[in-house]
Amino acid sequence: MMQKEAFLRIHGGFRLEGEVFAGGGKNAALAILSAAILTEELCVIENLPMIDDIFAMRDILQVLGAKVEFSKNVMRIEARTLRAHAVPDALAHKLRASYYFLGALLGRTQEGIVPFPGGCAIGSRLMDQHIKGFEALGAHVYEDSEGISVKASSLRGSVVYLDIPSVGATINTMLAAVLAAGSTEIVNAGKEPHIVDLANFLNAMGASVRGAGTDTIRIKGVPKLHGCSYAVIPDQIETGTLMIAAAATGGDVLIRGALPTHMEALTAKLLEIGVRVDDTGTGEDSIRIRSEGRPRRVNFKTQPYPGFPTDLQQPMTALLSVADGVSVIQETIFESRFRHLEELRRMGGKFTVKDRIAVIEGVEHLTGCPVTATDLRAGAALVIAGLMAQGVTEVHDIHYIDRGYEFIERKLNALGAKIERLERIGPLEIAAGD
Ligand code: EPU
Repeated sequence: MMQKEAFLRIHGGFRLEGEVFAGGGKNAALAILSAAILTEELCVIENLPMIDDIFAMRDILQVLGAKVEFSKNVMRIEARTLRAHAVPDALAHKLRASYYFLGALLGRTQEGIVPFPGGCAIGSRLMDQHIKGFEALGAHVYEDSEGISVKASSLRGSVVYLDIPSVGATINTMLAAVLAAGSTEIVNAGKEPHIVDLANFLNAMGASVRGAGTDTIRIKGVPKLHGCSYAVIPDQIETGTLMIAAAATGGDVLIRGALPTHMEALTAKLLEIGVRVDDTGTGEDSIRIRSEGRPRRVNFKTQPYPGFPTDLQQPMTALLSVADGVSVIQETIFESRFRHLEELRRMGGKFTVKDRIAVIEGVEHLTGCPVTATDLRAGAALVIAGLMAQGVTEVHDIHYIDRGYEFIERKLNALGAKIERLERIGPLEIAAGD
């Protein structure tokens, strides 16, 4: 059987210049959309990116029984009654964040079933800390080969010590705890901007969540939540990807609607390699990137927020593949997040990878060739490599990229890139869930 496969053809060597708007945050939106089932009332969520992960969340909300309308970056969700407490296999496998429905269903109906979620194959991605959170609140958790079930006769606030500041476990515990009786403390919580955004959304629904963005989140359970309107924060990772793309092409780009405070770890590294990063000085939320000449080499390691985000490691290593000198990068969050280097090597990049450390010997230039995205941010890294490369690069398996970037080529082309979205007919392959 044959199927159509979309791919990107990138003509390298064009400088990015001009203004672009940052889209709404994918990872914030995923948490917030699942939280919308914690109330029977209407929630209106604005500034959503129109990407495949969000379409999958819409489909899950509908299967669970919520009334959902989604157009022009706004989703209206009314979960007056829920008719199911299980997320179907096919939808759960589409994205990692399907597992947020464990916490949200537990909070709303005291039971939920979610098959093991999909998500990028970037590491083992365990769920023990999520389970620890649910159990601390009094839920019974059953795992079998099909997935995870959670059930509670009643949920009681508790202290949850996370062994690691997991983003997903922090969010899932928050979702389950907001309607629990009594107080919950999540200690060693994740501090990512999307966790703070979820807390702000829950508070707008009438929850009492304090301390999000610090190591300890304190939640006082309330009996009921109400509907609200809420606009999702700008996407930290899309913003970072655009910053790196601008730097990679010797560009001059103003990213409007971006929050400089969320970008400090990346900004510090870009400054170190010789890229100018400024806000406009007008008090508006924006970031200007200016770069010329070859970037200098730099070392960094990925860490939970406010450290250097693992999601920007792949785009940044693409940029450093042409830096002047040798860069050493340590990936501390996900053990398999250097697979894009194999593809970059085919473009002329020089790398060695041992365990979780990549050594990048900067080359003068990359050369375009066909490459394949192995996950979402690997795809973004290959697009950046294509922008810098001499000649034509074709990026395949762009369904990964479409999960997290709203038509990446449109934004880049508006800045002067030359990227075509094309289709080819090829043999049918069963795509791995993401
Ligand atoms: N971990 C455990 N046990 C757990 C949970 C996590 O050992 O119970 C480990 C993981 O295996 C991993 C580390 O802890 O090694 C961090 O995992 P975390 O739970 O923080 O990540 P996540 O919730 O699975 C979210 C984002 C990722 C982003 C990471 C880190 C969403 C939907 N996903 O994943 O985003 O890389 O946090 O910041 O928010 C992406 O957008 O491309 C993406 C992969």
